[in-house]
Order: sequence, then structure tokens, then C-alpha cells
Amino acid sequence: MDLVVRDGPEQVAQEAADIVCRVLAQRPDAVLGLPTGRTPLALYEELARRRREGAVSFRRATVFALDELLGLRVGDPRSFRAALQGAIVGRIDLDPARFHSPTGEGREHEDLIARVGGFDLLVLGIGRNGHIAFNEPGSDRASRTRRVTLAPGTIEEMRATFAPDPPPGEAVTIGVATILEARRAVMLAVGTGKAAAVARAVSGPIDASCPASWLRTHADALLLMDAAAAGRGA
Ligand code: PGA
Repeated sequence: MDLVVRDGPEQVAQEAADIVCRVLAQRPDAVLGLPTGRTPLALYEELARRRREGAVSFRRATVFALDELLGLRVGDPRSFRAALQGAIVGRIDLDPARFHSPTGEGREHEDLIARVGGFDLLVLGIGRNGHIAFNEPGSDRASRTRRVTLAPGTIEEMRATFAPDPPPGEAVTIGVATILEARRAVMLAVGTGKAAAVARAVSGPIDASCPASWLRTHADALLLMDAAAAGRGA
């Protein structure tokens, strides 16, 4: 896994946008995996801006969401599908028929990713506990898209968003094996809150205690982070 450290979140977003745009320039029908969460929002802002300026096109691309919360009504604005739609998918020239998010047990999602030839570029966040997509600590290296129980800390982080309702306790996520089969993976990390998880992903044991550590076994993985996430102070 290559490591790149930039000054702050804005530089990380620029660099990530450069990578996405290069992939699409080389392969206009690229298959992309895109995450939800706070971290990629600046990237999505930049991609939407570049699209408006005509610098990139997603017209022939395919986008897969990595995960989805379970137990929400279809169209719930708190769903990851809605979040991705609002943050990026609805702001670019992607064919809506080529935006896929997992549902239920996730088997169709896994099958569809395989059928279109796998990810050309997979963008990932990293959880404070080292999760990638919703592969929480303890996830199997060979896991595929499936229904999972969320870690208590992950549920806690969603409490404010869902209040007064309780946050969902289950999700469907692409698996660790699904992730590691991507031809290229870029993991984004910004802020001091991610420094401990980044340190474990980079120099801790490569095992299920920190699923992000498995990216070190990938032939073309990049951890793109800001100085704060790299533990070099804010
Ligand atoms: P965040 O989520 O970008 O909102 O910090 C990352 C993750 O949990 O994967």
C-alpha cells in the first residue's frame, strides 16, 4: 500500500479527484465504487465542480455504493443511497440506471459487480475502528457482500443523525474479498480522529482486528491522508 500525505482535507480531495478523473480519462466506462460518510464530501464537491466545467464525464461510467443501512424505508433521506445521490450521483452526468446500491443480503450486488468486470477504482473511507465499508473488526478476509451487524461504536456515531429514532444496527456491505479484488483502491483519511486507525492500518498486524490493514496485501492500494490523519499534528 502506497502512502501519500497532503497538508489538509482540501489537498486530499484535490488529489483524490485527480485520480478519479485520470481513471475516467483512460477508461470512460470505468466501474467505480464510492463511499458515503463525511470524508469523501470534499472529493464529491470537487468532482461535481469539474463536471460542471466539463473537465470530466461519468456518462459511460458505472457507480456502486459500498454499503447501505438496513431497516430504513426505501427513499429514506438517511439512507446511504440517498446520501450518495445528493452528494455526487445527482450532480454528475451518470446514467441513473448505472448507479447501484446493495439491498437485503447483498448477493445481487456482489453478482452485478462481478458481471460488469469488477471495480476499476474503489474509493474507501476508514472507520475509527479500522473498518472499511462496513467490514467491522472480526470480518473475514474471504467475506463477500453480505448482511452485517454494526459495531457498537459505529452505531453510536450515527445516534445524533437518527435521533429521536434509534440508529440502525444492521447494514449490507461489500466484503473484504470484494474490496481486495478491485484493480485499484484508494483509501481516504482526514483529521486527527483517524490517526489511530491509520497507524494500525499502516503498521499494526495484518488481520481482522483492523480490516483496513488488509489493503497492505493489495497490489495497487493507496492510502491518501492529510497530516492530521498521518499523526503529524493538525
Ligand atoms: P467518515 O466515515 O468519512 O464519516 O469518517 C468513514 C467510515 O466510517 O468508513
